[in-house]
Amino acid sequence: MSVKVVSGSNSRHIAFPLAKKLGAEYSFVEVKKFPDEETYIRINTEVKGNDVIYVNSLQPNPNEALTETLITIDAINEQGAKRVFAVIPYMSYARQDEMFNAGEAVSVFTVGKLFKALNVQAIYTVDMHLHRIKDPRVTFGSSLINLTGVRELSKYVRTHLNYKNRIVVGPDAEAEQWAKIMGEELGLPYVTLEKKRLSGSEVKISEKHLGLKEKDVIIVDDIISTGGTILEAVKLLRDEGANRIAVTCTHPILAGDAYSKLKELDLELLAGTDTVLSPISFVEVYPVFYEELKKVVG
Ligand code: R5P
Repeated sequence: MSVKVVSGSNSRHIAFPLAKKLGAEYSFVEVKKFPDEETYIRINTEVKGNDVIYVNSLQPNPNEALTETLITIDAINEQGAKRVFAVIPYMSYARQDEMFNAGEAVSVFTVGKLFKALNVQAIYTVDMHLHRIKDPRVTFGSSLINLTGVRELSKYVRTHLNYKNRIVVGPDAEAEQWAKIMGEELGLPYVTLEKKRLSGSEVKISEKHLGLKEKDVIIVDDIISTGGTILEAVKLLRDEGANRIAVTCTHPILAGDAYSKLKELDLELLAGTDTVLSPISFVEVYPVFYEELKKVVG
């Protein structure tokens, strides 16, 4: 019996160093399209009797990635793997976690049910968007383990920023969990702003008179998607007299023209992890998964 790391289309850059660090065999899944556009999957390694770690982020191309991931994990199980561990660096569909308007599908429930049905040993993800659902195991089953990329982001900030009068800022109430971790890691205080979402791309962030005048600020959030949250937060912080501003996030989705809008902000630092590959994915996330997986395989 050996341990095999199998990568999906989106995450070879995570699966390869993870396999190397675990001393496991690495391979990637062959993904093609049938003539009718359905997804064809072939596992390029013998999985029978082995522990298999499958790695695939559900961004970019969330619909394709979800289909590929579900079919692959099921196939690994069907082909007789001893145990299957799913590493899903970015769990898509987690943001629709409530029926905001009558008739809307709460898609996180659907995705949770699909993963639960796969019956894997464990599903590892990082900084899953959990605003209204506090415990994702309710929908994904007890095998879901939600880790954080914020300690890796903090290490990056420590080595790349030489701020003096620093404070960590979460752009909304939900970001307190990440601001707290970064604050602890860097030995800094933290505060959160107040955000109201107006639409998919528009938010309003309100002033809370947090005494940020002349402070050097490090913003931390889970996701940058349209960039609307960060644009508003930076504007508010500058209005409040903040000095230098750095922005970090776990999942730099950077949808549409988000990156060009963020570049115009003249930030001291703009960095995310590589759960999603983007121009700012400077921080490797595989060590987070390695630390957990080394306890259970090998
Ligand atoms: C939501 O509440 C999250 O924590 C992020 O703040 C949000 O997803 C960022 O999205 P956007 O970049 O589109 O504002």
